[in-house]
Order: sequence, then structure tokens, then C-alpha cells
Amino acid sequence: MQALKGKVSLITGAGNGIGRGIALRFAAEGAMVGVLDIQPDACQRVVEEITQADGQAVALPADVTRADDVRAAVRTLTERFGSPTVLVHNAALMPSGTLDQTSEDVWDRAFAVNVKGAYLTSREVVPLMRRAGGGSIILMASITGTNGLPGLAAYSATKGALIALARAMAIDYARDGIRVNAVSPGTIDSPMLHTFVAAQKDPEETRRAFDEVQPRGRVGTIEEVVNVFVFLASDQASFVSGANYAVDGGASIKGDQPRL
Ligand SMILES: NC(=O)c1ccc[n+]([C@@H]2O[C@H](COP(=O)([O-])OP(=O)(O)OC[C@H]3O[C@@H](n4cnc5c(N)ncnc54)[C@H](O)[C@@H]3O)[C@@H](O)[C@H]2O)c1
Repeated sequence: MQALKGKVSLITGAGNGIGRGIALRFAAEGAMVGVLDIQPDACQRVVEEITQADGQAVALPADVTRADDVRAAVRTLTERFGSPTVLVHNAALMPSGTLDQTSEDVWDRAFAVNVKGAYLTSREVVPLMRRAGGGSIILMASITGTNGLPGLAAYSATKGALIALARAMAIDYARDGIRVNAVSPGTIDSPMLHTFVAAQKDPEETRRAFDEVQPRGRVGTIEEVVNVFVFLASDQASFVSGANYAVDGGASIKGDQPRL
């Protein structure tokens, strides 16, 4: 049985990496997917992948920091498939640096994409979900939002904000039947990790260190993260709201992380 049959879903940052994985799997589970990304070509590629597999999707090239873009994307999705009852805000930037190494522009842009993007997309879909009698909003956080990671000050701060926002929205919209949860992956084998590793002085050693410090002796896979999103978007999670799901193989318990 398909877990998300007939659910209209909006996924931000769906052109690459984990967001792409969520979009492909949601479509395979029967959802109609709005593939939103700032990279139009990436949006189009993912939509083609979905339609070739007999799924339903629409490309929504948009910048999540721009209210007009977000409004237009939600309008296009609604005209095509109906009002969204699932929102995944996954788009993010991950600037590295301690606080004093982070410029004001980099700080502002990280908060604009990671946090304001959640605000703008949620602001558009909440009234639609309320009218539909409910929905599921899932904010992509990170282990850094609770634990912090060395050299990721702005990123960690944005992810902590998303966890707090999920809890605040969960309470505010509980009576509307809108569930809001955060998901906090640990280190995942993904393009974001590959880019980060490639930028280090010794990429091979950095990659080895990432695996070495994990309780499981390895980083997670995109599919392992996607599984949790499918659950939270589905009716199986009908009483789950305000949670922050760690998908980190126990890394947040173990505590020690590589100094990069
Ligand atoms: N990869 C990991 O190890 C890891 C771990 C924990 C959390 N996460 C989180 O998972 C999410 C996805 O990570 P990923 O590794 O797939 O990253 P990624 O960089 O591969 O994908 C992010 C996507 O967001 C899009 N995007 C960036 N700015 C945008 C904007 N202004 N408007 C619309 N789209 C925009 C990018 O074009 C890209 O397609 C992020 O929220 C990240 O913080 C990743």
C-alpha cells in the first residue's frame, strides 16, 4: 500500500540531495509533488525522474527567501494538483565558520534560506491546510540544532531555530489538525557532505574521520532519512506533533564529533 496516496506535497530544496530523495520517494508512495528549488534545471530533472517512474510532479523554480516566489509556487501547485496538505522545508545553506569567521552577509543569508524560508512557505500553506482540516509540516533541522558542531556557528543557530519553530507551530496549530515536526539528521552521505569534505585540507582524512566517530562506524544514507519523512507525512503519524526526530545512528547521544 502507498503511504501517501493522493497527498499534495510541497518540498523545498527538492532539486538535489536529500530533498530530491524525499521528492522521489513521496511520489513513489502516491503523493503529488511540488518540486521547489532555486535551481530550475535541477527542479526539471527531478520532475522528469518522477514522471518517468509514473509519478506526478510539477517543477516550481523559486527562491524560498522571496515571498512572491513562494506564493506563486504554491499557487501553481494548487492549480495543478489541489491545495498542499504536506510541506517539507528542506532547502538550506550550510556555511562553515565559527561566529567570528562568519560575515554579516553569510549570517543573514543562512537565516533567510533556512529559517525565513520555513516562515514564508508555512505562512502560505497553513491557511490552506486549515481549510482542508489539517496537514503535516516537516522542518529539516540537523543534529547541529541541539548539539552544535565545531565550525558551524550560523548553520547550527538556524537549525536550533527550526526545532523551536516546529514546537511553537505544533502548539499554535494543534486545533487545526496541522502537525508540525522537525527531523534532525546526523551526518548523511549526500552532496552537501561531499562538497564540505572536498573543501577541507585533507578530504580523504576528513571523510574517514566522519565515519570513524559515528556510533555505527558509518554515516547515514539519504534513504534512512527519507523513511522518517514518509512516516511523518503519512496518517500513521496522526498523533505525532512537536517532535524532533534524531536520524543520526545515536550520534547525538555519543556527543563527540570530529573537529574539522
Ligand atoms: N547532508 C547532511 O549530512 C545533512 C545533515 C543534517 C541535515 N541536513 C539538512 O538536510 C537538508 C538537505 O541537505 P542536502 O545535503 O541535501 O543539501 P543540498 O545542498 O544538496 O540541497 C539543498 C537544496 O536546497 C536548494 N536551495 C538552496 N537555497 C535555496 C533557496 N533560496 N530557495 C530554494 N531552494 C534553495 C539548493 O539548490 C539545493 O538543491 C538541509 O536542510 C540540510 O541542512 C543535511
